[in-house]
Amino acid sequence: MLAASAVRFAPDDPLSALEVGERPEPIAKDGWVTVDVKAASLNHHDVWSLRGVGLKESQLPMILGCDAAGIDPDGNEVIVHALIGDPDYRGDETMDPGRSLLSERHQGTFAEQVVVPRRNLVPKPPELSWAEAACLPTAWLTAYRMLFHRSGLQPGGTVLVQGAGGGVATALIALGHAAGFRVWATSRDDAKRERALTIGADAVFEPGARLPDRVDAVMETVGQATWAHSVKSLRPGGTIVISGATSGNAPPAELTRVFYLQLSVVGSTMGTRDDLERLARFLQVTGVRPMIDSEMPLSEARAGIAKMAAGELFGKIVFTTGS
Ligand SMILES: NC(=O)c1ccc[n+]([C@@H]2O[C@H](COP(=O)([O-])OP(=O)(O)OC[C@H]3O[C@@H](n4cnc5c(N)ncnc54)[C@H](OP(=O)(O)O)[C@@H]3O)[C@@H](O)[C@H]2O)c1
Repeated sequence: MLAASAVRFAPDDPLSALEVGERPEPIAKDGWVTVDVKAASLNHHDVWSLRGVGLKESQLPMILGCDAAGIDPDGNEVIVHALIGDPDYRGDETMDPGRSLLSERHQGTFAEQVVVPRRNLVPKPPELSWAEAACLPTAWLTAYRMLFHRSGLQPGGTVLVQGAGGGVATALIALGHAAGFRVWATSRDDAKRERALTIGADAVFEPGARLPDRVDAVMETVGQATWAHSVKSLRPGGTIVISGATSGNAPPAELTRVFYLQLSVVGSTMGTRDDLERLARFLQVTGVRPMIDSEMPLSEARAGIAKMAAGELFGKIVFTTGS
């Protein structure tokens, strides 16, 4: 089958570690099922994998991709939950210390077929296209958990989203708007700031700009480049929710502000299978849809990954298969 894989690690030139070509079809073990992938969306996680973050040499070649929508062996249209944990773990599976994402220990979704535990399948609402459904399991689920579980935001509250153009960021803007938050966003790019206004942002700003008011919560995925601004933008008692650090991992901690203003810094990672089901229903009920930057056949995965690595996207990139 056709697949896009990491075949080596290249910290400075991730595309040189990518191979798009034939790989053996997967075999489902007991309790697992084979899904015929219709669409799979790209996440920054895939770029990190090509750079060598989170994978070991011994695991190569590794098929990339966390997210997929497709057809299960009974003919059902499904969305694949990307988080693989211990089947005996009880409670919130994002807290399972042994959890991994597809493409970390188990082969990923950038392929014509993927095998996953049966419990990882969530019904695909018929209203969502294959491409839209494929955007949900990582970026949109992460945004859902950040906003609705981790931020403490109430409807009418103000949230700042850093780096508006990203997959998680566009989801934060659209979900936050639909939930009745006042959404402010920053982006490095003027055209992306304009687009953010069309998907639910109430106001947009250049990175580091002084805001008209302090915000109740900041959603961080950018990290080093925006961290100081995030801390300075919060009202006393406000919360930063962080799920990523694309621009770097060593910002000034701003410790004095954190304690003096009694700020909360809250980590967030992915979401549960049940959250994914609720997220799909949220889209059904509200009519909100993922912003798709571009859709291309899996055979052209290299072009999509290049676009993400260069930071030239607004929303999600989706690969489709002929399955
Ligand atoms: N913890 C989790 O479970 C989880 C889940 C999903 C993602 N993540 C992490 O969250 C981050 C975002 O993921 P994604 O898939 O949304 O990535 P993405 O689609 O590539 O978006 C990254 C965005 O960061 C913004 N950015 C601002 N300043 C930047 C800078 N100096 N350098 C690079 N980017 C900058 C850009 O927005 P503008 O161009 O608009 O400024 C860019 O669009 C990644 O680091 C990813 O690993 C974590």
